[in-house]
Amino acid sequence: MALLEVEELSVTFRQRGRRTVRAVDGVSFSVDAGEVVGLVGESGCGKSVTSLAIMGLLPRQAGVTVEGRADFDGTDLLRVDRRTMRDIRGRDIAMIFQDPLSSLNPVLPIGRQVTEVLARHRGLSGEAARREAAELLDRVGIPDPTRRLREYPHQLSGGMRQRALIAIAVACRPRLLIADEPTTALDVTIQAQILELLKELVRDSGTALIMITHDLGVVAGMCDTVNVLYAGRVVETARRRPLFTEPRHPYTVGLLNSIPRLDGGRGERLSPIPGSVRDVLPWADGCAFAPRCSRQVPSCVGGPPALVLTHTDRSYRCVNPVPPAAGPATPADSGTAPAPTAGGSAAGETRTTAVPAAREEESA
Ligand SMILES: Nc1ncnc2c1ncn2[C@@H]1O[C@H](COP(=O)(O)OP(=O)(O)O)[C@@H](O)[C@H]1O
Ligand code: SF4
Ligand SMILES: [Mg+2]
Repeated sequence: MALLEVEELSVTFRQRGRRTVRAVDGVSFSVDAGEVVGLVGESGCGKSVTSLAIMGLLPRQAGVTVEGRADFDGTDLLRVDRRTMRDIRGRDIAMIFQDPLSSLNPVLPIGRQVTEVLARHRGLSGEAARREAAELLDRVGIPDPTRRLREYPHQLSGGMRQRALIAIAVACRPRLLIADEPTTALDVTIQAQILELLKELVRDSGTALIMITHDLGVVAGMCDTVNVLYAGRVVETARRRPLFTEPRHPYTVGLLNSIPRLDGGRGERLSPIPGSVRDVLPWADGCAFAPRCSRQVPSCVGGPPALVLTHTDRSYRCVNPVPPAAGPATPADSGTAPAPTAGGSAAGETRTTAVPAAREEESA
C-alpha cells in the first residue's frame, strides 16, 4: 500500500446565488515514500483544492462538501478530527503554499521559525540548530543567511519569503510534502537550486513529494509519475518518460505542444491549446475537453468518457486517444494489434470506470 492513497476525492462549493462548482471530481492517485508525483494542468483545474482537501485546510462550513478518501499510512485524512489533523500536519505532512505570507508567523524572526522546526523534528538546539538553519537558508539561495535569520517576514521580499518557507518545509523532513507551484514566482537559477534541494530531500529522507505545477519543465526534471488534470478530473496518468514520449490524451498532447523545446527549429511556433479552460462541457454531458479538442468524435458527448487502463502505470480518460507512437512497442502496447480507432481503444486496453480497484489489475 502506498504512503498516500487518494480515492475518488471530490470537492463541491455551493454558494447562494452562485453557480455550484465541482472543483475536484473523483480524483484518484497514490504516492509512495521516496516518490515524486506530479499534479499537472492549467490554472483552475483543481490542483490547489485537491491539496487543501488532503491537508484538511478547506473551510469547514456549509456549502463546502468533501467526499472520497485520502489514506495516509492507514488514516483517512478526510475523516480525522481537527486536533489529530493538526498533529499530523505538524509531524508528518508539510505543505509549501503559493502564498508564503499567510504561512509564516509575522511576529517571529525567520531564524526562530526554522530553529523551532529543527528542534521539534530533528532534536537540534542551540548553535547546531542555528548553523543548520543558516545552511538551509543558503541552500534555498538566500544571501547573507546569518543576518537574514534575525529578520522578520515583512523585511524579506516575496521571493525571499517563499524561499524561507521552503527551507522550513525541508527542515521538517516530512514523510509527505505537498508543494503547490513552489517556484513559480522565482527566477530560473533559484528555481533550479530549489528543485535540486527537493530532490535531495526525497532521495535522502524518503519523503513522498506531490509536485503541483502547470509547468511541464518542472515535471520533466522532477516527477516519477504524472497525473494530468482537466476540469477537476485526472485525464491521464503515466510514468514521466512514457508521458513525454507517448502521450495518449489529446489534452496532454496539447500541453506538451505548448512548451518551448530546446531542439525545436528556430522560429518554430508553439501551438497553444485553442480556447480557454472556461470552455468546458460538464462531465455528466460528455468529455469536458470536447469544446477544445481536435480529435472529437460523436461518441465524445452524451456521457463521460470511461477511464481506459493500458497497464498499471498508464490510464487515460478518452474515447479517441492519440494512437501509440510507431516504433519500439512499450510494455503498455506490446502484443496489441491495431491502433485505437475513432471511438474505440486498442486491443489489450481495459475500459473501466471503477478506477481504484481497476488500478491494481493488469490488462489482458
Ligand atoms: N473557495 C472557493 N469557492 C468557490 N470556488 C472555488 C473556491 N476555491 C477554488 N474554487 C474554484 O475551484 C476551481 C479549482 O481551483 P484551484 O484548485 O485553485 O485551481 P488550480 O488548478 O489553479 O490550483 C476553480 O474553478 C476555482 O475558481
Ligand atoms: S474524449 Fe473525445 S473530446 Fe475528449 S479528449 Fe478524447 S477525443 Fe477529445
Ligand atoms: Mg493553484
